[in-house]
Formats: sequence, C-alpha cells, structure tokens
Amino acid sequence: TDLPALLRTMPKAELHVHIEGTLEPELIFALAERNGITLKYDGVEALRAAYAFTDLQSFLDIYYAGASVLLKEEDFFDMAMAYFRRAADDHIVHAELFFDPQTHTARGVDIGVVIRGLSRALDTARQDFGISGALILCFLRHLSEEDAFATLEQALPYRQHFIGVGLDSSEQGNPPEKFARVFARCRELGLHLVAHAGEEGPASYVRDALDLLHVERIDHGVRSIDDADLMHRLATKRVPLTVCPLSNQKLQVYPDLRDHSLAKLLAAGLCVTINSDDPAYFGGYLNTNFLATFEALPELRANHAWQLAANSFEASFVDAATRTRWL
Ligand code: HPA
Ligand code: ZN
Repeated sequence: TDLPALLRTMPKAELHVHIEGTLEPELIFALAERNGITLKYDGVEALRAAYAFTDLQSFLDIYYAGASVLLKEEDFFDMAMAYFRRAADDHIVHAELFFDPQTHTARGVDIGVVIRGLSRALDTARQDFGISGALILCFLRHLSEEDAFATLEQALPYRQHFIGVGLDSSEQGNPPEKFARVFARCRELGLHLVAHAGEEGPASYVRDALDLLHVERIDHGVRSIDDADLMHRLATKRVPLTVCPLSNQKLQVYPDLRDHSLAKLLAAGLCVTINSDDPAYFGGYLNTNFLATFEALPELRANHAWQLAANSFEASFVDAATRTRWL
C-alpha cells in the first residue's frame, strides 16, 4: 500500500492553525503594497531568509511583524481564502481557525473588520470547497488579564461568529492561572475553551490549563510526556492534544523530528491530532506535516494514519451528528 497517498488523500480536520500564520511572504508584500505599508525587509527572499527561529519568541516577533500588513476586511478575507485553497488540496473537510484580535486592535484595526473578513471567507469556503470552518478567538497571554477582558467585550457583538476562545503567544512566565477569570467568563457564555500549553512551558501548565481554565483540548501539549500521572489522565479522559510537528521542529522543541514524542503519545492512548500551526512560517501545510512525521517516525503505519484522522474528527467542535457521519 502507498502510505504517502493515504496520508494525502484521507479526509481530515485541522484544529490548530493560526490564520495569521498562513500569511505567505508573497501575500505579505502584496498586502503591504495594496495598503501603502513599507516593510523593513527588502523583498520576499529577504523576509523568508529571516525565518530561522531559535525558540517561540524569535518566531513570534516575525509573526507579529508580518501581520502588520492586515488592515482592511478584504485583507483578512484574502488571507483566509488562500488558506482554504491549500486546505482543499490537503483534503481537509473541517478547519477550526485561531485568530489573534489583539494583534490587530492594538494597531487601530476594529475587531469587526477582522471578524467580518474571516467570517465571510468561512462562508465562501463552504460554498466553493465544501469545507466547514469555525473561528476560535485567541487571547495573547503576554498581555494583561484586563486587556483580555476588554477584547472579549469588543468581540461579544460578534458572538455568533466564533465558537470558542484559546490562549496563545509567549508561554513561559505567562501561566494559565493568569487567565482563569477570563476563561470562567467565557465558560459562562457557552464558548468552547482551548489553550496552548506544554509547548515550551512545563507539563504543569497542561495540568493547570485543565484544572484552572477547564479547557476541552490542549494545543501542543507535547511536554505532557514528562508527567506519567498527567499522561494517564489525558488518555483516560480522551483530552485531545493538537500537536504540530513541523512547528515543534522549527521552534527547537524537537530539533530532530525523529525524536518527536507523537508516536509515544499515540501509543499511550492519547487523542493526538496532527496540525500545521503557522504553515507559512514552519515549512508546510497539513499534508506536509503528516508526510514529514510519518517519514521521521517509521513505527507509524496506515493504522496510525486512520487513527489520527479519526482523532481529528473526535476532537473537533462540530455537532454530534456531523461527527458521527465523519467517523
Ligand atoms: N505558540 C504560541 N503562540 C503562537 C503560536 C504557537 O505555536 N503560533 C502563533 N502564536
Ligand atoms: Zn499554535
């Protein structure tokens, strides 16, 4: 059997992709020109050459600089449509997209501009590609609790356009507990809850995301491997981990993909999924992540491919009837 062909063509869901992280250098320069913005990089090649990351923060600095070209509703729409075209190529049938409103509102862009542009792309992707999409609003954890509450307030007029909230940006020194009250409020509002945890931060951040934020999924979570009790809990409760192998490699979490914990997490019975995180920055979209991971970890076979696809639907926030149809 042809394992790469199976990985490419099997229907799958993507649950951990930052839409601002899908902004390719070509589109960054096109939008800069359209909006009359001058970038500090000379061109596409110079920008791409700067994508040599040593850790999460070195990536975030460039990622926020790239997002600075997004000003108009049309910019957010075009960015998301470019992602959906790639998603269709990768046989993604459902995508839950993270967006970072504070990256934009801090520059004076109204949150409504962001959400309307993205939401219109979701509608168009359903029509043009048959892909169902949903939005998850992420709070930037390097900013204050107060800023997160203000962002939630600004977003509430658009409540029907997003299904949940997440937590991203610089993990170390910004533990889950900093956002316990904001997440409690979001929970009251009936929003789905997820958080990045255990990417660069310790396994205890994964535990705290579960106990203090009451999240339903953990984004990354690979450092859970350091804590046997936590592993047992994640396995028995089927708490999904949205793992991003090429991201982990490029941000030096696992500099060599052959050392990645994904196969061990799967073997321990965790609901592991594969995702692309910031594909324009980390060297590939979802199928590239699947292919690279299976090549680096030869113990992964066709049954694991099916398991990962099934996990992506199990872990998704689609309604129960749709999930059953996909599974
Ligand atoms: N981790 C934290 N914050 C992020 C990431 C990530 O992988 N991608 C975009 N923002
Ligand atoms: Zn992420």
